[in-house]
Amino acid sequence: MAYVELKYGPEDNVFEEKHPLIQHKITMIRDKETGTNEFRKCIEEIAMLMGYDALRDLPLEDVEVETPIEKTMSPMIAGKKLAIVPILRAGLGMVSGITALVPSAKIGHIGLYRDETTHEPHEYYCKLPTPIELRTIIVLDPMLATGGSAVSAIDFIKQHGGRHIKFLCIIAAPEGINRLHEAHPDVEIYVGHIDRELNDNAYICPGLGDAGDRIFGTK
Ligand code: PRP
Ligand code: URA
Repeated sequence: MAYVELKYGPEDNVFEEKHPLIQHKITMIRDKETGTNEFRKCIEEIAMLMGYDALRDLPLEDVEVETPIEKTMSPMIAGKKLAIVPILRAGLGMVSGITALVPSAKIGHIGLYRDETTHEPHEYYCKLPTPIELRTIIVLDPMLATGGSAVSAIDFIKQHGGRHIKFLCIIAAPEGINRLHEAHPDVEIYVGHIDRELNDNAYICPGLGDAGDRIFGTK
């Protein structure tokens, strides 16, 4: 595929992670010698580190708490519980990283697969927590390639009433970021690393191969 320039940055809701721990773990998952067990562990840890960053604006409210010394007012997360929505299959690998941070989060699922020839996404499952319109929604997928799957998933969420949406991916191609931002400019996109380009099979280069196969040990 022809080289595509990335058109958007932090001022457009597109945030690339710079933390050395995230970069280190991304190198580990790129390595074709990294086995399923280590791969899954790294995906979970990267999701947790990215979630820590992406959730920095969660609303807080002061509640009363009694310490061993005295009563005081202290902040806790406010509002309706967070909704986590992994895109099946590979997004599942990131869920435990986010629930480690927010154990009370509700979890929805969107099932999409990419047609191997057209690279267009096909939906096979969608179940979201209600009331979705009152929740901050974190959509998870390690790979943002053409952007077709992410755009479709967020289309579904919006059709069900979802509004406040953040998208977390570990590796993205410029094509995917451009397409997702153009379709859903209100969605914050957090990306672990922006790679060079897509190849003729719409795989991210250098990428990490097929994320679902590497998480689940299929091929
Ligand atoms: C992969 C990946 C994304 C999608 C990205 O899933 O996990 O969902 O491709 O590609 P796109 O940006 O071009 O849409 P895949 O369709 O291979 O399904 P799987 O997770 O079940 O393997
Ligand atoms: N899906 C993947 O798992 N990897 C890619 O590089 C592109 C789409």
